[in-house]
Amino acid sequence: MNKLFGLIGNPVGHSLSPLMHNDAFKMLQLPYYYHAFAVEQERLKDAVAGMKALGISGFNVTIPYKVDVMNYLDKIDEEAKIIGAVNTVVLEDGHYVGYNTDGQGFYESLLELVGPTITEKKVLMIGAGGAARAIYTTLVRRGINVVDIANRSNERANELVLHCQNNNETTIYSLKEAVQHTGEYDIIINTTSVGMSPATAEMPLSLENAKEQTVVADIIYNPLKTKWLQEAEQKGAIPLNGVPMFINQGALAFEKWTYIKPDRERMKNVVLEQLGGNDYVNR
Ligand code: ATR
Repeated sequence: MNKLFGLIGNPVGHSLSPLMHNDAFKMLQLPYYYHAFAVEQERLKDAVAGMKALGISGFNVTIPYKVDVMNYLDKIDEEAKIIGAVNTVVLEDGHYVGYNTDGQGFYESLLELVGPTITEKKVLMIGAGGAARAIYTTLVRRGINVVDIANRSNERANELVLHCQNNNETTIYSLKEAVQHTGEYDIIINTTSVGMSPATAEMPLSLENAKEQTVVADIIYNPLKTKWLQEAEQKGAIPLNGVPMFINQGALAFEKWTYIKPDRERMKNVVLEQLGGNDYVNR
């Protein structure tokens, strides 16, 4: 049976999701198609209703609708509820169910690099926005005991921790304070957009005090190697860019829609080729 999948957001013109999913459908000889729809804020409700009326089997949600879309779905998965955002919607028995695969996508990229001792690691996360919420919630729920936060605004970081309601003692630093403490962490993650193209000269936090072999992860994949990751490499840290997270969140959505595990290696190659063919993530 032919099926249609999609992406809603605004803008969506530069999204790599259509390329990645359509290639995977083709490889698996599935008669499915994925299309990116740019939706205006005031038409979001109509857009979701229209997708349902047309029988669209599932869709991704991107900026700026990951939170607002929740108002128009029939059901929200428990973890997505705690995260407070949805990036994947699945048509289940005629109902649209919202999930979040961003946090799990990031967690899997970290797990692949760090291995099963991940729960014993001390994590410092920079940022307290939507992406931070998904990552913080997932890391804590997968058993990592120390996930501290450095953020520009203290209030937003406090809100994040309160919202996620967990038993962890999370220390919250200002960005300035955090610089003095980076040496205490095994994993440092940037969840902000600082350093993303076109403002590539910016860095979220100085790594001057970070120890060697710290895993330094940036969720940005454009550029593939941010200035911050370059500095991390120079310090002898282990860099991780945003490509694996992007691939994993997409692959997890694909699995929810099709019940088939796509070839993540191929997905990565398709995306990397589009981003300039850099195999920096293949460490
Ligand atoms: P997203 O949903 O993509 O995570 P967001 O909700 O706007 O985006 O959150 C952006 C995060 O990046 C926030 O933590 C923000 O800090 P504040 O909470 O203090 O606003 C952080 N951020 C964005 N621009 C920044 C900058 N120039 N310097 C430091 N932090 C920045």
